[in-house]
Amino acid sequence: MKVRDLQHEVLPQATPEELSRQRAVVSLRKLLNARVRSGNVARYDSEGAPAFAARQGRQPQSPEEIRAALFESQRYRMWSAANRSAQEMLWVSVGEPVYRDLDRMSAAARALIDAPERKGSLTLDPGYEPSPEVADIDIHLQPGGYGLDRGPDDVVAGALYETGGNVFSFGQGAGRSDSKTGVAVRLLGEHFPDFTPQRILDLGCSAGAASAAYAATYPDADVHAVDIGAGMLRYAHARAESLGVAVHFHQMDASALSFADNSFDLVVSHNLLHEIGAEKRRGMIREAARVVRPGGIVIHQDVSIRFEPTIVHQVERDWDTHFNNERHWHTYASADLIADMRAAGFDAEGIVEHNLPAVQGAIRWYAITARKQG
Ligand SMILES: C[S@@+](CC[C@H](N)C(=O)[O-])C[C@H]1O[C@@H](n2cnc3c(N)ncnc32)[C@H](O)[C@@H]1O
Repeated sequence: MKVRDLQHEVLPQATPEELSRQRAVVSLRKLLNARVRSGNVARYDSEGAPAFAARQGRQPQSPEEIRAALFESQRYRMWSAANRSAQEMLWVSVGEPVYRDLDRMSAAARALIDAPERKGSLTLDPGYEPSPEVADIDIHLQPGGYGLDRGPDDVVAGALYETGGNVFSFGQGAGRSDSKTGVAVRLLGEHFPDFTPQRILDLGCSAGAASAAYAATYPDADVHAVDIGAGMLRYAHARAESLGVAVHFHQMDASALSFADNSFDLVVSHNLLHEIGAEKRRGMIREAARVVRPGGIVIHQDVSIRFEPTIVHQVERDWDTHFNNERHWHTYASADLIADMRAAGFDAEGIVEHNLPAVQGAIRWYAITARKQG
């Protein structure tokens, strides 16, 4: 299923002027991330570390010193400032159409959510306070963050996430199909060819891109999805209805699920690991293991930043922690996820880490998988 750039009734309709601004951001981000960024470690070697050594009389050693040395390179400093600005420009470029088109989008969402012929469902929990470690932060500078909820018809968080994600991905060199779901489905076909899930749970679903893609891929399956944000979930539900797929969305914390033990065949999370701290992550992994049935499969997929070859590469990677409000980028990158999966009850020999090529485009994805015994 094509997911990036997919047309549906709740998607903000950008004007030609707004689209041209978005295309400019895509082009700038491609230049900065797909081309210039790859030279940052060389800039450290040729400019940053020598300047640090000249000043301190020794080579940088700790991550903090390596970060300081990187900033001794004027070209790195220029890249860092430009990349931060490009990320801010990204949100301006998608925020304008979202807020200009919001009345139409909210009305379209309400009509889809209330339609008697709807296929899926939306269960919000009015008493739920989204986890502050996520809700109190504008993660990757998204205005209002994941937990933004401006009232009973609000869909802004989902609209920003989907359109911001499109501009971000094209500017990163990712393709137009949902490569995260695509790689998971391909992985299932390669490693578990006889496995056809009947009940699927998607944790941290955001605007529901992966959830809808699973529903389209497995049309007979009962697909459920959870997220913390009501504004995100309203948008995700309306989007899925507009696309004609059945997904049941729930406002729920992935580390405290209200589903019964052993109640899903397949439990997935896409790009959730890097958004949450260690305690939440372990809770989420434990809950996924609890609700998957014996013989069922868990897939936690995320960005491919976990196996950087040197400490300089690791510090360079952690730019997102310090300048893009990705507070748990480093926490995720350095986590012992095999230990977390074992602590959740999976047998060590059944846990596999994967470094997967995307379905389309040059990027790669990380995934950790396990099948529940019994
Ligand atoms: C990077 S997005 C995930 C993208 C999405 N899975 C996709 O494939 O498009 C991370 C999502 O996880 C959600 N999230 C963060 N902490 C959570 C938690 N404790 N429980 C459930 N969802 C959470 C955020 O609200 C956000 O929507």
